[in-house]
Amino acid sequence: MEEIIKLDEKKLDRIIAHYANTHGEVMSTLEAIQEEEGYIPKEALKYVGEKTGIPLSQLYSVGTFYAGFSLKPRGKHIITLCEGTSCHVRGGPRLLSGLFELLQIPQEERSEKSVTTEDRLFTIEKTRCLGCCSLAPVIKVDEDIYGYLTPKRLPEILKKYEWNDK
Ligand code: FES
Repeated sequence: MEEIIKLDEKKLDRIIAHYANTHGEVMSTLEAIQEEEGYIPKEALKYVGEKTGIPLSQLYSVGTFYAGFSLKPRGKHIITLCEGTSCHVRGGPRLLSGLFELLQIPQEERSEKSVTTEDRLFTIEKTRCLGCCSLAPVIKVDEDIYGYLTPKRLPEILKKYEWNDK
């Protein structure tokens, strides 16, 4: 997906000034950008680097190391699909294929750890274990857990979130 953004430099300047020279400056600055934008645009990383003198490589490694940061746009609803052992043996891969088909995720993006739909309504993220293995196979949509799931129930679940946004 092509990244098209318009940087709000005034907003970034405010964030940079707020966290300048504080302990944990890089983390706090990136957190604030992600909170404002929903993710950390690469252009914003470059801008922060130029303004603060923090090497881009350092900003980039912090942005990619922590699971809580995303350098790619994320959808309004986050679908977390469990790839842990219990979910895997009880049909997790079929759920993943079902989600890819329903949300029309292009083949070439399907092996990525996280993919977002063209309309930015949903992001599918893969994880190791959601901590509720007895309900396997499981997905989480935002804060809602769906267990003992079959691909047949996916359309009805996704519709709930689509309708809530209309
Ligand atoms: S393996 Fe899926 S919730 Fe633990």
